[in-house]
Amino acid sequence: MKVTVKRDKFDEAQVDVLIVPIYQDTPLEAESSAAQLDDCLNGLLRDYLDSRDFSAALNSTTLLRTRGAVPTPRVLLVGLGKPDVSTVDHLRQASASAATAVQKLGVATMAMLLPASKLDLATQAQAVAEGALLGLYALKMYKTTEESESDDKTQVRELQLLAADESVQQKIKQGVKRGKVIAKAVSLARDLSNSPGNDVNPSYLAKTAKQMAKQTSLTCTILSQDDMKKLKMGCLLGVAQGSAQPPVLIMLDHAPNGTSETPIVLVGKGITFDSGGISIKPAANMEDMKMDMSGGAAVLGTMQALAELEHPRRVVGLVPASENLPSGEAIKPGDIIRAMSGKTVEVINTDAEGRLVLADALCYAVEHLKPERMIDLATLTGAVVVALGAHASGMMGTDEDMMAILKTSGEQTAERVWQLPLFEDYSKQIKSDFADIKNVGGREAGSITGGAFLKEFVGNIPWVHLDIAGTAWTRASHPYIPKGATGVGIRLLIDALEALLKPDVKANAQVNVADEANTPSANVAKGKSKGKAAKAQA
Ligand code: BES
Ligand code: MN
Ligand code: ZN
Repeated sequence: MKVTVKRDKFDEAQVDVLIVPIYQDTPLEAESSAAQLDDCLNGLLRDYLDSRDFSAALNSTTLLRTRGAVPTPRVLLVGLGKPDVSTVDHLRQASASAATAVQKLGVATMAMLLPASKLDLATQAQAVAEGALLGLYALKMYKTTEESESDDKTQVRELQLLAADESVQQKIKQGVKRGKVIAKAVSLARDLSNSPGNDVNPSYLAKTAKQMAKQTSLTCTILSQDDMKKLKMGCLLGVAQGSAQPPVLIMLDHAPNGTSETPIVLVGKGITFDSGGISIKPAANMEDMKMDMSGGAAVLGTMQALAELEHPRRVVGLVPASENLPSGEAIKPGDIIRAMSGKTVEVINTDAEGRLVLADALCYAVEHLKPERMIDLATLTGAVVVALGAHASGMMGTDEDMMAILKTSGEQTAERVWQLPLFEDYSKQIKSDFADIKNVGGREAGSITGGAFLKEFVGNIPWVHLDIAGTAWTRASHPYIPKGATGVGIRLLIDALEALLKPDVKANAQVNVADEANTPSANVAKGKSKGKAAKAQA
């Protein structure tokens, strides 16, 4: 579906349906577009609202025929809920609900009026575009039946946003552009997570990243299994050794104007199928574990969006990708493997593989990219689903400033995060009798001990870990999130990375980097990285 901005007034719009958002228990404001439309319709809307047949509760819809009073034959009312509690997410949801209702009608074109609101027009337009595009998202590639073909014929082809004059049009265009870029990135992430593991394997993720680099200003580097051997990435290699598919470490560099400034590094878990390995998972719902690369998908999507939005700062995305399968060559409980940093890890449970692949990616970032900050996203623990359910991602880390920003961005984007503590005490749970650390910390505080494990590999770089195991996948449909992969993390990260641009935040970060540059571990890292230029340019 294309989203366009038209200089039409609603009474000129040549579309199959005109969508009119309505607040609950609120009279149509005299100067609003809805009230003007109502005048053209001889009071049809007011009559209908007065009758109370339509409550305007959030996401409710109802269809009216215009009987020739305006060029469009139908008006679809969509409820925004109560104005006093209204948020930009309500508009995003209402737009999705309206688009879904129009899709069911089987018509081709729609236009939407923006509600009278205190939000600026660009923000509103962005939310409307995101909501409609994400609400109509579907993975169709794997359906070949006639039913799905006829679905295609009735696809909504166009959503128009109507702008009354030039200045309004500019703002709406800006918002629509952002909304399209973000919805495209989220849809890519959903496609990758929803697609089956036999297609989306580590090489496929690498191919996707290379294609993305061709189409954008991003630079893509793929570290191969041989590169990993040279770099001594024993944890990533260990997870991959049970699989016939070779692992990859994907790197996408967004360096505006070729800058070599210290980057912000994003790391995403890329397990393209998690069977648990030798510590195999129960069969029930194991098919969902094709989504265990959702952190990686979020990083790929975010990098694409940053490039397309011409984000002014350098950001590098890393995705360590592997399958986790049992075989005669797989890692076993009791095995001791060695991370790139030299730390030894006793594998207690081969199903705690995410932290292993992330460990080497984090080591690589610390030693070779010297980041200003790092954020990782991972479907890391079932325990976070127990703690927070589907309504927030678990957040922990060493950088309180960045966590505060992520919390605010989570509220702005409705991709909420909730902080869990990362007290030093939890690290005791992952001490090993035979190696430096072990990969599980027992039943208690399972998400936090996952975070404590990752903390062992971040040096002094300010870092935040987001556990998205509960938020990356949904069994219940939501207005703009159909069942399956949610694409969580992209809208959150884009918002947070933009918030990080603000001068006061940057000043703090420079203090952090200055501190870091003189620490013993930073000097060790510098020495170590010399002569290790094992980069395989893709
Ligand atoms: N990929 C899983 C976590 C997961 C669970 C993601 C549910 C999405 C939904 C992860 O690799 C895993 O298996 N974690 C184990 C860790 C345990 C062995 C310490 C878990 O949570 O059971
Ligand atoms: Mn696992
Ligand atoms: Zn996993």
